[in-house]
Amino acid sequence: MDEKLSLKGIDTVALDEDKNCVVIIDQTLLPGDIRLKSVDDAGDMYDAIKRLEVRGAPAIGVFAAFGMYVLSKQMENKDYDAFISAFREKADFLNSSRPTAVNLSWALKRMKRVAEEDSSLPVPEIVSRLRTEALSIRDEDIEICRGIGEHGLSLLKPGAVLMTHCNAGSLATIRYGTATAPIYLGQEKGYNFRVYCDETRPLLQGARLTAFELSQYGVDTTVLCDNMSASLMAGGSVDAVLVGCDRVAVNGDAANKIGTSLLALAAKHYGVPFYVCAPSSTVDFETAEGKDIPIEMRDPDEVTEMWYSKRMAPKGVKVYNPAFDVTDHSLITGIITEEGVAYPPYTDSLKALLQK
Ligand code: MRU
Repeated sequence: MDEKLSLKGIDTVALDEDKNCVVIIDQTLLPGDIRLKSVDDAGDMYDAIKRLEVRGAPAIGVFAAFGMYVLSKQMENKDYDAFISAFREKADFLNSSRPTAVNLSWALKRMKRVAEEDSSLPVPEIVSRLRTEALSIRDEDIEICRGIGEHGLSLLKPGAVLMTHCNAGSLATIRYGTATAPIYLGQEKGYNFRVYCDETRPLLQGARLTAFELSQYGVDTTVLCDNMSASLMAGGSVDAVLVGCDRVAVNGDAANKIGTSLLALAAKHYGVPFYVCAPSSTVDFETAEGKDIPIEMRDPDEVTEMWYSKRMAPKGVKVYNPAFDVTDHSLITGIITEEGVAYPPYTDSLKALLQK
């Protein structure tokens, strides 16, 4: 690994107040290049989310909150009616960039609530409140991930062999990640976990991103193709699976990166505990079951061309490319939140933990 490339000290999403823009690590270039990208325009923000330059459910929530603050600041000379109508239009536009992760609409709703709270205030005062709200969403994310880390770590023994899918790491949040938070906290305490990262077809978030960040923090990391997980589990080599999620329904069904449900099925078969790590912002109390979660479909080229020097499938062949799947709640051992671990039946336990 190129030692010069370091993620240490760089936030996945940051606000540059001097230049009034949002700064991200362009994740499409990782692990080959760590390049920061600044955005200050609604179209570029939409594209950054859509193209996965910024990705991972909590990170796109924070990005959208910072984005709405930056856009609001550009409009602070407008009167309230003009301001709020442009604000709503831009928030709806950003919200349409990706449908599955509920954190995006959750963060935009929080910003909208602040913008609509008191129309009698001068617009610059509303903009200043939006700044405070966006910074709170960012700060809460760090706290929440640490909480998930502590609860998750209490379930794991030193030396455990763990498996994860996609990237629910610090690149998908502001710091710590969700599924990786127990791993990072364990690393600080000398737990010496060994971690297997599924490569995560088709966009390779596991091989490109999780393997990169875990290795940078000195975690013993091994990459495997998605179709190798069951054979590893069959040999008794995995103690637990930890994954992130994009939306959890009231009954505990959890949407996450495509391939997660297959991993959960294998884990159930081989008796490996399967944990979903979910910040409270990812639990959607307005969605009853997984079948109600909208699943994003993506460009066929991601499957047939993107990672190959020559197109590898016949031209014109039909491609099925959903970005996420839903893991049935019956396959999930526990849902690790910042408030504690929810166990089945989730309809009761999630409410008891998170709707205090
Ligand atoms: O398409 P992506 O890369 O945004 O998908 C990300 C995932 O599926 C993550 O596991 C999920 O967002 C949780 S991130 C803490």
